[in-house]
Amino acid sequence: MNIYKVLPDLSNERQMRLWQQGIRKQWSADDIDWNAPRRIGGEKIRDQLGRILTPVLTGEQSVLYSVSGLIPVLEHLSKVPAQFYLTTWAVDEARHTELFARYFGRIDREPLSIRKFPAGFLFQSRIISKDPSEWLTGVLASESMAQVVSHQLRDLDLDPVLSEICAGIIEDESRHLGFNHIYIEDQFKELYAEDAEKADQKALESG
Ligand SMILES: [Fe+2]
Ligand SMILES: [Fe+2]
Repeated sequence: MNIYKVLPDLSNERQMRLWQQGIRKQWSADDIDWNAPRRIGGEKIRDQLGRILTPVLTGEQSVLYSVSGLIPVLEHLSKVPAQFYLTTWAVDEARHTELFARYFGRIDREPLSIRKFPAGFLFQSRIISKDPSEWLTGVLASESMAQVVSHQLRDLDLDPVLSEICAGIIEDESRHLGFNHIYIEDQFKELYAEDAEKADQKALESG
């Protein structure tokens, strides 16, 4: 049975600020001008892009899957501001998944099969945990890689649609990394406070 607090504790200001940003800065794959003339026409470059974007698409999908699973976990922990924020994180990753799925259509390519890219699929399938802190430290690697790839593809400016997608994703990912930092920092503070409390208790008992 779920236990709800009648009035949720929304006092974590930093997490609440990110939540507000998360809802205010939403955008849609339909905002992209998908009919902009395609700058990359060659077969070879489109093959290469298909390879490069395979781990990106699988990464977006696996983060969507794991973020969605953590929303009820945070509810059980009564971490409501974090739960609020994760609802926007899930929307962000759903949008990224849609964007790259549609982009494969634009370059007329398909992602590499699992047989051709086993390490990538295995890596993504491992970034799953029901413990928010454990998951956040694991996902830090793929979120940071997403930032690097998005910056590089935007700066290369191979195709106007891809550049626009990457520019939008850079903004979304910076919020994800910001939340990662804030949540882990808060967890460390809580751990430290618990340890200090135990030490005080021990000193009282022995003194
Ligand atoms: Fe993403
Ligand atoms: Fe992300």
